[in-house]
Amino acid sequence: MTDPNAHRLWIQEALNLQLAEPDDRTLSQRLYDALRSGIQQGQLPHGSALPSSRQLASSLGIGRNTVLGATDRLIAEGFLVSRPGAGVFVADWQWGTQQDLKIPSLTNVALSQRGERLLEFTAPSSERHTAFEPGVPALDRFPRERWQRLLRRHQQRAPVEWFDYQNAGGVNALREALCDYLRLSRSVRCHPEQILITQGAQQGFELVARLLADVGDSVWMEEPGYGGAQACFASAGLTLQPVPVDSDGLNVASLPAETPPPKLIYVTPSHQYPSGTTLPLSRRTALLALAQRHGAWIIEDDYDSEFRYTSAPIASLQGLMDNAPVIYVGTFSKVLYPGLRLGYLVLPPSLVANFQRINARLHREGQYVAQAALADFIGEGHFSRHVARMRKCYRHRQATLRQALAPAVSHGLELSSGHAGMHLVAYLQSHALERELVHRGKQAGLRLSPLSSFYLQAPSRPGLVLGYAGATEAEIERASRWLSETWLALA
Ligand SMILES: Cc1ncc(COP(=O)(O)O)c(C=O)c1O
Repeated sequence: MTDPNAHRLWIQEALNLQLAEPDDRTLSQRLYDALRSGIQQGQLPHGSALPSSRQLASSLGIGRNTVLGATDRLIAEGFLVSRPGAGVFVADWQWGTQQDLKIPSLTNVALSQRGERLLEFTAPSSERHTAFEPGVPALDRFPRERWQRLLRRHQQRAPVEWFDYQNAGGVNALREALCDYLRLSRSVRCHPEQILITQGAQQGFELVARLLADVGDSVWMEEPGYGGAQACFASAGLTLQPVPVDSDGLNVASLPAETPPPKLIYVTPSHQYPSGTTLPLSRRTALLALAQRHGAWIIEDDYDSEFRYTSAPIASLQGLMDNAPVIYVGTFSKVLYPGLRLGYLVLPPSLVANFQRINARLHREGQYVAQAALADFIGEGHFSRHVARMRKCYRHRQATLRQALAPAVSHGLELSSGHAGMHLVAYLQSHALERELVHRGKQAGLRLSPLSSFYLQAPSRPGLVLGYAGATEAEIERASRWLSETWLALA
């Protein structure tokens, strides 16, 4: 088709077809779409001349500016070329026509080896959470109105810097409020400048992995342990070394002497995830000594220590000594809500500037309005009131779960102690029983988290991790009764 007249007729027909379809695109957009697909499909071949904009406008019965809007855009994108004095032509478009192209199938696209490995740390489903989902707080109890008021307050007052790129480590008021809170309730040794606000604990783990370890370095991890941290370290190319957890938590003494030394040690000392144990002082001091001996960093993940039901919060590992080789990681995902995406690192002073710079380069800072609102939420006492309310609520939800599981417990189902946190572990007799319960749960619309999925190596103890914080008492009771009856029938 080299004749502009033929092109005009084709364009007219194509546009009429587009116009026949009801949609909300502008005329110019429709002409653009028709021309672009004509070029891509080969109806308007390379080098062919378009009718002039005046001719096109009059034959299509549309304004000339509408035509120019479409053709100028196609010229800017390289589909058309304008030759002054000669007219507008279809460009010598290198891809060839759609028919010539070997269009690859975009189903089953392969991930990188790293991507494939990361899939192993994920759950396949994005369905709505069910009663036993671990790690989800009581979203139904979050004081939304107060939070909205604080957000509005800071939205209105936001200084211009909050609209800009920054690398200051977060809003000062939040770092100050957090520092007071951490010193008082967690015995963390810090100054506000040592705090780097992140978008959750995950980003903190990722930064530590990338900035303090190299590909192939060994990270010692609790076994069983938290899949989110495992995924972060795997994605940074570290070698994940499982360290068995016993009734006192991480047990480095159980590793063979020839185990490669760690560069990082990841630990949840206040409330081991998921077993719920607390690392005793003797193991804490031994761990600090071990890290110092190897020049390693301990990553202390203190994800849910606000929720202790029988004693005051446990003092942090970071605060045990001056200059402890510890990076303390905190999150607001459990104590407020995970969609907030706010967490923090408490860094040794010598690391602060470099972490701030690199974090701003890799991830950018942001959420200043939410950070400022959170500073007020803490400063005005709403935070501690919310924690106290949630402590009561979770204690009650845990008691509901225990009560509904009592028939199974009286026949030998073993439950973890539950002196803290947002989940319990129900230990099972066999992996076959674990698999069968997960399968039956799925059929009953209940997603159960098998303890074996928390292991890097062959799992030693079968069980189920039962979150109780994020569901209502009625939901917990129904689900726990089902579990109790099913366990009794199978075991
Ligand atoms: C052990 C542990 N650490 C940290 C986190 C929090 O991660 P984030 O702050 O990225 O939501 C979780 C959340 O599930 C967790 O279970």
